[in-house]
Amino acid sequence: MDHFTYKNGILHAEDVPLPDLAETIGTPFYCYSTATLQRHYRVFAEALTGLDAEIFYAIKANDNLAVIRTLAEAGAGADVVSGGEIRKVRAAGVAPDRIVFSGVGKTREEMAYALDAGILQFNVESEPELDALSDVARARDATVDIAIRINPDVDAGTHHKISTGRKDNKFGIAWPEARAVFAKAAELPGLAVRGVAIHIGSQLTQLAPFEQAFKIAVDAVRQLRSDGHAIDRLDLGGGLGVPYGIADPPSPADYGAMVKRVTAGLGCKLMFEPGRLIVANAGILVTRVIYVKRSAHKVFVITDAAMNDLIRPTLYGAHHAVVPVLQGRAEGTPEPVDIVGPVCESGDILAENREMVVPLADDLLVLRSAGAYAAVMASTYNARPLVPEVMVRGAAHAVVRKRQTYDELLATNALPDWMSP
Ligand code: LLP
Repeated sequence: MDHFTYKNGILHAEDVPLPDLAETIGTPFYCYSTATLQRHYRVFAEALTGLDAEIFYAIKANDNLAVIRTLAEAGAGADVVSGGEIRKVRAAGVAPDRIVFSGVGKTREEMAYALDAGILQFNVESEPELDALSDVARARDATVDIAIRINPDVDAGTHHKISTGRKDNKFGIAWPEARAVFAKAAELPGLAVRGVAIHIGSQLTQLAPFEQAFKIAVDAVRQLRSDGHAIDRLDLGGGLGVPYGIADPPSPADYGAMVKRVTAGLGCKLMFEPGRLIVANAGILVTRVIYVKRSAHKVFVITDAAMNDLIRPTLYGAHHAVVPVLQGRAEGTPEPVDIVGPVCESGDILAENREMVVPLADDLLVLRSAGAYAAVMASTYNARPLVPEVMVRGAAHAVVRKRQTYDELLATNALPDWMSP
């Protein structure tokens, strides 16, 4: 459930009418609902009641400081994958001991920064990374808590670009081969082996692959304990899918019940890294129709938002529901339309063959489920400035990332001194 609803035929974000925001802020813009963020966090947390569990929001899904702060205030820690993300969560006020650092390519600089910040745990993904982290910790006379991410070779049944738990993916260390790496880690100075981590992909719409992978992880914990490791943490990653208006993924409650069943009696702290589940449907992208272009075969609705603002349809063939801001403005029978942006690529399609009443030029449209992997993946392709992010709470709103100006866009470039100005 979200808080983007029609009141008297006008789409609102909580109590804020979207046409008002479009008027004052201009289009396109992303809009986030505080109440929806809080609700999604609460629903996931409640699904884990009774477990010794901690939630680390995967900020890669949406790293706006206001979003991170909202979730931190609701009780979330943070899962990060770069030095930049650590800086973001610290700026948003997340306590260092609520930060987990994942990712396959942590540099020594990033490790040192994270270590000095006093983060809770590093999730290590390879043997060379283990050596590097040991070096960095030893140079500081420190000992860091680590989990090692295992790769269970399980097919998550999701899009191949966001599947991470197969043996041909770059993530984790194959299990059971990873046993030797745990043994090596135990010998290395500066490292305290605390946990097993696993994450098999994103936007999973079935529980079975999770269950298969979690059983492997639970067996791994038991095996590693019998090898002599004091494993007391199990990081089960993120990945639970959300409804984009087509598939109906499992509920957090069903996911929680499965986790309880699979981990019963294990005696580990369980760690979770949900991203999309919390933020996807707490955000929308509001755009204005520039032109409606009819050809012999197609109706193209050309909007001021484009693939640089929402890359998911282009990159993964993702489906985002499209709805009008004003109900009943356009009339007629529904027809298939392509909603496209102004970017000079045929792949710049936000919604393909969508059956809808053809909107009119200047109409406002909303692309739903744009709270996750939308603003964070935006680019300035075609020299299009980054668009604002707005957060709503009740009847209040705030611009939480301002629109990039053309001056700011140009300021990132410089002419070499051998060129005359
Ligand atoms: N933990 C780790 C180690 C991850 O790699 C990810 C996501 C998560 C947690 C959070 O997964 P979530 O709960 O959001 O599914 N850009 C793609 C999604 C990439 C996901 C990358 N890793 C998309 O737009 O679908």
